[in-house]
Amino acid sequence: MYYMSKTHNPVPDLVNEQITAAVASLRKGNVIAFPTETVYGLGADISHPQAIQKIFDIKGRPPDHPLIVHFAKSAELEFWAENIPTTALMLAKHFWPGPLTLVLPKSRHIPLSVTGGQDTVGLRVPSHPVALRLLEELGGYKAIAAPSANRFGFVSPTSADHVKKEFGDRIDIILDGGSCEVGLESTIVSCIDNEVAILRPGGISVLSIENVLKQKIFVRSHGNSIRAPGSLTSHYATTTPLEICHGESLFLRSSILLQQGIRTAVIVRSVREDFVQDANNKLHCVFMPNDPVRFGRDLYATLRRLDNENFQQILVEAPPDNLEWLAVADRLNRASYSFYK
Ligand code: TXA
Ligand code: MG
Repeated sequence: MYYMSKTHNPVPDLVNEQITAAVASLRKGNVIAFPTETVYGLGADISHPQAIQKIFDIKGRPPDHPLIVHFAKSAELEFWAENIPTTALMLAKHFWPGPLTLVLPKSRHIPLSVTGGQDTVGLRVPSHPVALRLLEELGGYKAIAAPSANRFGFVSPTSADHVKKEFGDRIDIILDGGSCEVGLESTIVSCIDNEVAILRPGGISVLSIENVLKQKIFVRSHGNSIRAPGSLTSHYATTTPLEICHGESLFLRSSILLQQGIRTAVIVRSVREDFVQDANNKLHCVFMPNDPVRFGRDLYATLRRLDNENFQQILVEAPPDNLEWLAVADRLNRASYSFYK
């Protein structure tokens, strides 16, 4: 998975007006939803403790799980973090604005309520023009704490409509910035004491991070000691049970489920003749792009759609076992957890 674009499209006038209203709402201590290039976020001004509390309440998120802090200007990194190693500076320079979150020792400007009591903080400068404009208008040395705008443990939203369906009347303002370009969450890289580790694969590939740092990077396995909801085994989950099938087992499993009369949706990469035939009968097939970036972009919207269509089971063709597909494989594994547990 890689992410190239740092485009700054102009923000339409209507959205500009809504951004001004959203900033006023943030200043009053309210929670708003806004687009980023990865997924939509549920945002609060970090200087309002009640607003931070509202995020945890609305999401149903345990209070000790840290939030990512978003700001507009990379140059403010030193205001929000301390003891910043060169590796972090190199990554910020190369990938910000963009889908990269750096975990660093926090400065005194970051409240503990945001970090779940930890002395480190996740920091990110997003590239979505609406997110950037929102942060700029909020002002210098101001920041927005924002988790993905979904109920804790469920699939992240990649459109304003997803957020509306999820929270509707609980949020004052939902800024609409269209469908998210990346579609999966940011890559989280921890840079503490010059030790670099990837805590969550995402919009920036492991390979491109290794290229910038000219070193091999450790990808932390599940069950690490740093609390990260994305690291809980079950996460990004559909309400419909989801099963990953390797090789021919995909065909076998779908045939069995079909015989049993279980309404099944099958997600495959590229068009497979054997499945097209079955699609003419009762099997519902979704053909996803055989490319990790485009697959990642469409994944959450597809899962949400299938979840709303009353299927009893979702089968997914296992992604290729390589670094490019790591972020997609990670999300699918966690989404499938409730099926295997
Ligand atoms: O793409 C994204 O990162 C989106 C958009 C809205 O920016 N945000 C997002 O936030 O995915 P959330 O809260 O759904 O996931 C944030 C992840 C969690 O796994 C959290 O534990 C981890 O970041 N995180 C935040 N601060 C951390 C810290 N100090 N140490 C370790 N992990 C941290
Ligand atoms: Mg999330």
